[in-house]
Amino acid sequence: MRRVGLPPCVVTHGGAGNTVDVLDGCQAASLAGLAALGAARDAAVAAVVVLEDDARMNAGTGSVLRLGSDSAQMDASVMDAGGFGAVAVVENLKNPVKLARAIYDSPHLMLAGAGAMELAARLGLEQADPVTERQRQSQRERMAKLSEHPMWRDVPDSYWRTGNSDTVGAVVRAADGSFAAAASTGGIWCALRGRVGDVPIPGAGVWVGAAGAVAATGIGEIIWQQLLAKRCHDEMERGLSAQAAIDACLSFARARHPDIELGLIAVDHVSCGGGALRQMPWCALDGPVERGGPRGDR
Ligand code: GLY
Repeated sequence: MRRVGLPPCVVTHGGAGNTVDVLDGCQAASLAGLAALGAARDAAVAAVVVLEDDARMNAGTGSVLRLGSDSAQMDASVMDAGGFGAVAVVENLKNPVKLARAIYDSPHLMLAGAGAMELAARLGLEQADPVTERQRQSQRERMAKLSEHPMWRDVPDSYWRTGNSDTVGAVVRAADGSFAAAASTGGIWCALRGRVGDVPIPGAGVWVGAAGAVAATGIGEIIWQQLLAKRCHDEMERGLSAQAAIDACLSFARARHPDIELGLIAVDHVSCGGGALRQMPWCALDGPVERGGPRGDR
């Protein structure tokens, strides 16, 4: 049941593993989300657009390169209680979350690859190479390290599982008590072309239900296997607060994968929260009062 009369709330994050130096970007995104309310889904998308346009984050501008290639492939999604829209492995698009929002309004749930990009062109969405010189330099350094491992599968697990600052996301509780979540990512470093992460998978990267909205960040394969966003929502449905549900899910994940980057943000009917296994910049705003902040080094 919706609870009206509470202040709307927008929570954003700049990616598990990212530094708190980009917290100002999360604050700008949460403010943009609040400014875009009405509908919770449009506020979530507006917040994620700001994060995609921030080149310090791995989504939209600033997305990482795919292994052995000169381009990025991006995933994005938006969800509320009434629908879902997602894109997977799209290239040369400034704001993948805007395409996910258009697909939300279509008869489909997800478009991938060439078909998704054709739709983006038909809709007149802005095209742009999202890869920055900073990411190209990082790719060169990583490829040099990889060349020490002729069979890249022999690279130590820690190489793949850490050092990624990935995904941006937003969760929203609107003034009418409705919820939404949106997320966007350039994926993880050294992913093969065609790899799809957790972001466009409902229940993995995002989930919205009767108890609230959740967005996850981190290594998509782990998030997907654990259906982390749905798991967090189900903890809220069992009566935990957003923060307690996040803490429970992070404990669950830590016990199985102590070395990886993983984070969550969530909003419920009366509160919100965020946290990560290592560090993650995040910001919660309801009206003019800031209620969140960085929770690094947990
Ligand atoms: N969480 C982003 C990804 O793994 O693609």
